[in-house]
Amino acid sequence: MTPAVHAFFDEATSTVTYLVRDPEGSACAVFDSVLDFDPASGRTDTRSADAVIDFIRDAGLTLDWVLETHVHADHLSAAPYIQAALGGRIGIGARITEVQRTFGKIFNEGTGFQRDGSQFDRLFADGDSLMIGQMRAEVLHTPGHTPACLTYVIGDAAFVGDTLFMPDFGTARCDFPGGSAEAMWDSIQRILSLPDATRIFVGHDYKAEGRDAHAWETTVGAQKAQNRHIGAGRSREAFVALRQARDATLAMPRLILPSLQVNMRAGRMPEPEDNGVSYLKLPLNSL
Ligand SMILES: [Fe+2]
Repeated sequence: MTPAVHAFFDEATSTVTYLVRDPEGSACAVFDSVLDFDPASGRTDTRSADAVIDFIRDAGLTLDWVLETHVHADHLSAAPYIQAALGGRIGIGARITEVQRTFGKIFNEGTGFQRDGSQFDRLFADGDSLMIGQMRAEVLHTPGHTPACLTYVIGDAAFVGDTLFMPDFGTARCDFPGGSAEAMWDSIQRILSLPDATRIFVGHDYKAEGRDAHAWETTVGAQKAQNRHIGAGRSREAFVALRQARDATLAMPRLILPSLQVNMRAGRMPEPEDNGVSYLKLPLNSL
């Protein structure tokens, strides 16, 4: 089975949103949508999400799922906005509860913030599956970047989120709370055990040095042979050392504090205060 995949690239956050459709029918799913956000003004904008919504409407598709590979730390999710426009169910990994406990503490959330994942319509565990029309998507729990990261495998296509990036860029960081370079190595081995021809769609592209254009599609075979962090026989120990050394040099993503507060609520803003305005917090010296 070869699902049709359309990519929408967000320059501001280097995020790739994917629309996956059943080539035999009209059902589709959206992975990792983006709500545009300007931190200087505190303004949100829906042009990225509207491009996805317009595409789905123009093609006459039915949106079954609005899926997240994980709680993103670099962009706000537009899942509730897209769901309000087109329907569909919002899904994420079952270990979101762990992420909600961690960040509920960091943001000093009160009892109004549920840590049970109930903000999402469906929580997926390893081995679960879901249907997009007649297409079955298999869920792999692939922790490492975060404890709740998922990879969705649909026919010959795997949506790996922030686990593997393009071979010339490598892998995602593992130094957020609950991240683990060891777990990422093990997760990557599971992804690489898929057939070599499996198409891999990565969650971000930052244009590796020497490459002029963005790219987001590769294969299991190409990753095994060429990935600069894990390819060509690198050992688990060597990967963990390399990953941890590199993570120690990375600054926090520009939108991490707004993103986490919104995405741990399935993309919804915190409850408005008595003046009708929602506020995001900046915890000082906490991350
Ligand atoms: Fe991420």
